[in-house]
Amino acid sequence: MFSPPFRLAYLSTYFILSAVSGSLVLTPPRLVLEYGAPASANCSTDIIPKMMAWEASQGSVDPMSGVQQLTWTVKSITEWDIKPLCFIIVGDSGFQQKTFLPVTIYKIPDKVSISLLNDTRLIIEGEIYWLQCDIQNVAPVQNVIVNWYKEQTLLKRDNVTSEENTKEPQNKTSKLQIRPNRTDDGAHYRCEAELELGAEGLQPPPRPAEPLIISVAYMPQFQNHTEILLDSGEMITLNCTVKANPPAVYNWIPAHLKPRPVITSSSLGLGNYTCTASNQYGNDTKVFTIRKKGSRVVFWSILGSCLVLLLGLIAGYVGYVWLKISSNSVI
Ligand SMILES: *[C@@H]1O[C@H](CO)[C@@H](O)[C@H](O)[C@H]1NC(C)=O
Ligand SMILES: *[C@@H]1O[C@H](CO)[C@@H](O)[C@H](O)[C@H]1NC(C)=O
Ligand SMILES: *[C@@H]1O[C@H](CO)[C@@H](O)[C@H](O)[C@H]1NC(C)=O
Ligand SMILES: *[C@@H]1O[C@H](CO)[C@@H](O)[C@H](O)[C@H]1NC(C)=O
Ligand SMILES: *[C@@H]1O[C@H](CO)[C@@H](O)[C@H](O)[C@H]1NC(C)=O
Ligand SMILES: *[C@@H]1O[C@H](CO)[C@@H](O)[C@H](O)[C@H]1NC(C)=O
Ligand SMILES: *[C@@H]1O[C@H](CO)[C@@H](O)[C@H](O)[C@H]1NC(C)=O
Ligand SMILES: *[C@@H]1O[C@H](CO)[C@@H](O)[C@H](O)[C@H]1NC(C)=O
Ligand SMILES: *[C@@H]1O[C@H](CO)[C@@H](O)[C@H](O)[C@H]1NC(C)=O
Repeated sequence: MFSPPFRLAYLSTYFILSAVSGSLVLTPPRLVLEYGAPASANCSTDIIPKMMAWEASQGSVDPMSGVQQLTWTVKSITEWDIKPLCFIIVGDSGFQQKTFLPVTIYKIPDKVSISLLNDTRLIIEGEIYWLQCDIQNVAPVQNVIVNWYKEQTLLKRDNVTSEENTKEPQNKTSKLQIRPNRTDDGAHYRCEAELELGAEGLQPPPRPAEPLIISVAYMPQFQNHTEILLDSGEMITLNCTVKANPPAVYNWIPAHLKPRPVITSSSLGLGNYTCTASNQYGNDTKVFTIRKKGSRVVFWSILGSCLVLLLGLIAGYVGYVWLKISSNSVI
């Protein structure tokens, strides 16, 4: 019986034979398959070899003579590191021609999950935290890309390179540093595992993780620290409401005002009312000034009088200069 591999006896034989050895063509030239899927490839040559065969850990085809094409088939591929080899024997010397079929076997992850690495349930505005994406049982790990999103925005594309060159399924993790602020309260963070298998392969849809929804604790912060209200003798509302997590508690100066975010009264006098909103992360104050409604009229009348006075002064000066010039011309 026949047993590969054969070695060339003489180098000179090689040169003589290579002219008639023909070439091996694989169709398809490369295979990308899901674990457990059926596989098939053809090997063909343009000469009539003495023997033709496939050698593989699954689906070997015994040597056949007088054929120019041979098909390798597997019903369900279960060898992660399979390297099918097609070879031919040419002439009586036993000259061998061979070619390997590159096969990539993939497996979509069993599970993708996201978690907060810091051992806390509390996220405080401005502090640094780490999120981790865990991908379970994926192959080949070298082809996994982890995409990180906040809502619909792609934050990071992590091409986690693996030192291990294994083809069997592995677990993989990717980390993301975040520094949330108040606008991120209630934000959904997501990660997904994508298998980049190259143009020949089907692109399996990325496997997403359940989103992680974060709650961000932050202190109250006013946008405007002052507000002017005009007293028209009717109800006046001092609205000190401000966003904070947890919600702020409110204190007023003068202290006889009730500790509420909104004060509505018809008996507030003119002057300043200072509101302090606070929670355990900090506080902020806002000053409401109640002015007389007429104060605008008073302002304009003062400005008007000043203008009249200024015009009077200018007129007086012009008159004085004119008088001086005319008295000079007399002399
Ligand atoms: C292999 O060749 C056979 C016969 O020519 C053909 O039916 C089959 O589709 C081919 N397979 C591939 C994977 O090209
Ligand atoms: C979260 O963990 C990282 C890394 O361990 C650390 O640098 C960071 O300070 C932690 N954040 C908080 C708020 O504790
Ligand atoms: C991931 O990294 C590998 C090795 O650095 C590189 O060959 C590959 O093109 C990268 N893939 C992407 C999608 O960036
Ligand atoms: C991957 O993680 C799962 C669950 O944590 C574990 O059961 C399994 O053994 C891990 N696989 C490898 C290859 O480390
Ligand atoms: C909150 O953080 C985002 C970036 O994550 C930034 O664009 C935004 O300006 C920040 N908002 C505040 C109020 O700091
Ligand atoms: C804050 O003050 C600005 C002008 O300084 C004004 O345009 C804005 O409407 C005020 N915002 C609030 C919430 O009162
Ligand atoms: C007070 O202002 C907040 C927004 O800052 C608003 O939602 C609320 O309706 C206001 N309340 C009153 C009584 O005007
Ligand atoms: C009210 O507060 C303003 C600053 O917001 C200050 O300039 C003014 O002097 C204060 N008035 C009184 C009567 O305290
Ligand atoms: C507000 O915060 C300051 C420190 O930032 C603190 O000294 C003060 O006591 C706080 N005031 C209130 C009313 O909580």
